[in-house]
Amino acid sequence: MTQALDIQHTLTKKIKPDEDKLGFGIHFTDHMFILDYTADKGWHQPRIIPYQPIVLDPAAKVFHYGQTVFEGLKAYKTEDGRILLFRPEQNLQRLNRSNERLSIPYLDEELALDALKQLIVVDQDWIPSKAGTSLYIRPFIIATEALLGVAPSTRYQFMIIMSPVGPYYSEGVNPVKIFVESQYVRAVNGGVGEAKTAGNYAAGLKAQEGATDKGYSQVLWLDGVHRKYIEEVGSMNVFFKINGTVHTPALNGSILDGITRKSIIQLLKHWNIPVVERTISIEELYEHHAKGELEEAFGTGTAAVISPIGELNWQDQKISLNGGQTGELSTKLYQTLTGIQNGILPDPFNWMVEA
Ligand code: COI
Repeated sequence: MTQALDIQHTLTKKIKPDEDKLGFGIHFTDHMFILDYTADKGWHQPRIIPYQPIVLDPAAKVFHYGQTVFEGLKAYKTEDGRILLFRPEQNLQRLNRSNERLSIPYLDEELALDALKQLIVVDQDWIPSKAGTSLYIRPFIIATEALLGVAPSTRYQFMIIMSPVGPYYSEGVNPVKIFVESQYVRAVNGGVGEAKTAGNYAAGLKAQEGATDKGYSQVLWLDGVHRKYIEEVGSMNVFFKINGTVHTPALNGSILDGITRKSIIQLLKHWNIPVVERTISIEELYEHHAKGELEEAFGTGTAAVISPIGELNWQDQKISLNGGQTGELSTKLYQTLTGIQNGILPDPFNWMVEA
């Protein structure tokens, strides 16, 4: 790091939660990282400080116009005590792609990676070790200029907070029931769908609430123009195994370029399992199901890793997938990916980075 990182250790360490009851994003570690941006100084004053509330002017642009981006990645502790991060450079590259879309200044990826590693080392006692747990890392940037004119902010803060987590869904790696959303959309091409920005998640809440009320865990998002083509599932990318070939929606501008998604594609290719990225309509998917060709479906993301889909409901037509059971491929992908991430399996692609 070219700028000296100031580390202020906390005087009072928090009591760590029980690893069996972590939940997701509930508990936070003892420290956090902050970096400021002003138009005259650029990004400056990197520091690790005790985890604490932040003070912002109520007119800060993030509150009014949603100028903010975030990332999510995980750290693991191996049996021999090493700390491993899964493809962190991919997250930082995507953070800058999101920055570009949201008119937020470019952040030096090397500086951010170094900050991330140092923060993890400071709070390494917080990395849980029980199977299925990890330390979830949330880097994010907010626009802090206190001004109500609609224009890019001249001040920002980049922060990193961390949370020891268990499974994202209470179902864990068991199949979830999915409601195919026909009224609301998550994003449209030309919008901010491929950026990791708060508005995409806020836009999804209404449909998510409706799905929950009907007894479903997540929604399957269709495209914003035709309400026909499959985009994402909940906050994850989605894959379908049809007749031995794995299909996933092609990145079209409104779909998030998931790091788990690209890792799954790489693994499938490595195993010589055919995989195609293309436009998939919900109608076509139901036709494959009717012919007995739809073998498995699953969502992929950092938080859940792999989340099998057991049931789909599209306009009151319910279909059960793989008898509502976790499929063979979903299981193999989950075990391989988490095995690599935990340092238990070999890492043929050099994905893991030591902190
Ligand atoms: C992910 O799984 O990568 C996510 O983005 C989920 C997060 C919003 C909790």
